[in-house]
Amino acid sequence: MKAVRVHAAGGPEALVFEEVPRPQPKAGEALVRIEAAGVNFIDVYVRTGQYKASLPAIVGQEAAGVVEEVASDVAGVRPGDRVAYYLTLGAYAQFAAVPAGRLVALPEGVTTRQAAAVLLQGMTAHYLTHSTYPLRGGETCLVHAAAGGVGLLLCQIAKKKGARVIGTVGTPEKGRRARQAGADEAILYNEVDFAAETRRLTDGRGVAVVYESVGKTTFDKSLDCLAPRGYLVLFGQSSGAVPPLDPQVLNQKGSLFLTRPTLGHYVAAREELSERSSAIFSWIRDGSLEVTIDRELPLASAAEAHRLLQSRATSGKILLIP
Ligand SMILES: NC(=O)c1ccc[n+]([C@@H]2O[C@H](COP(=O)([O-])OP(=O)(O)OC[C@H]3O[C@@H](n4cnc5c(N)ncnc54)[C@H](OP(=O)(O)O)[C@@H]3O)[C@@H](O)[C@H]2O)c1
Repeated sequence: MKAVRVHAAGGPEALVFEEVPRPQPKAGEALVRIEAAGVNFIDVYVRTGQYKASLPAIVGQEAAGVVEEVASDVAGVRPGDRVAYYLTLGAYAQFAAVPAGRLVALPEGVTTRQAAAVLLQGMTAHYLTHSTYPLRGGETCLVHAAAGGVGLLLCQIAKKKGARVIGTVGTPEKGRRARQAGADEAILYNEVDFAAETRRLTDGRGVAVVYESVGKTTFDKSLDCLAPRGYLVLFGQSSGAVPPLDPQVLNQKGSLFLTRPTLGHYVAAREELSERSSAIFSWIRDGSLEVTIDRELPLASAAEAHRLLQSRATSGKILLIP
């Protein structure tokens, strides 16, 4: 089968489109014929070596397609089932062997392309707003990169919870998209001091929570956006890793909370996985959650997909189609 592997950490050119053996499902696994793979920032971290993987590795951690075969000990999943999965390396490929516990069945009305575009980022937006810091109606949150893949979903889900959303964006066009997704305000954070602007927009009070995915370039100022006892939810590092922090800073800036959550810990129990994925799919079906696919590219163009994502040229999801 065709797949995209990384043999040595590096730039986008480290992604090699090549022929590899088709995987065989081991005990507990299902073989999925992939119809669409989702491109996520975590794929960049793996490619560059910021997140370690044993190499050579097929990149990609999210896809949707049809079950081709299952190991003899797998129950509850059958060949022909339409499924999506998340956080399992090997998605930039025609086939992937996936632990059956990571598979989510797709309901009628949700296409494999939609599922590959939303499962990982949608469940992320869900746990951030419902579990890490459960937003309450009337509270204000700050969402960085509000027109990004996770960002557009976060804006919509935060609005569903009745929160006021202040977004940061790189361009006026991204500002328009963030507002369309429900952001009440869109700050051009490359041009404007977003901490001062957030203070101004909240009459000096600051926000209850910052959903912070940009990391290195925004982290310090994000602390300055919070009301006393506010939550800094650092869930990504698109601009680079945040350096070590003196905990006294949290005291000085208002008895703040800092957490660095990751999706895996919020869907480890099957019930949580079902609850989050069902919520996302039901919102898609009733039309209250829009999934924005920025573009679809052939699998062979994985390097181009990474270039686009890293150059901040996208708004919403990139899919790779095998
Ligand atoms: N912890 C978790 O469970 C979890 C799960 C999923 C994703 N994430 C994180 O969520 C973040 C968003 O992921 P995504 O896949 O949806 O990507 P994305 O938001 O679509 O793309 C990243 C965006 O970040 C902004 N950005 C600011 N500085 C940047 C820089 N130096 N380089 C690149 N981008 C920069 C850009 O938006 P502007 O042009 O508007 O600035 C860019 O479009 C990532 O940090 C990812 O690691 C975390």
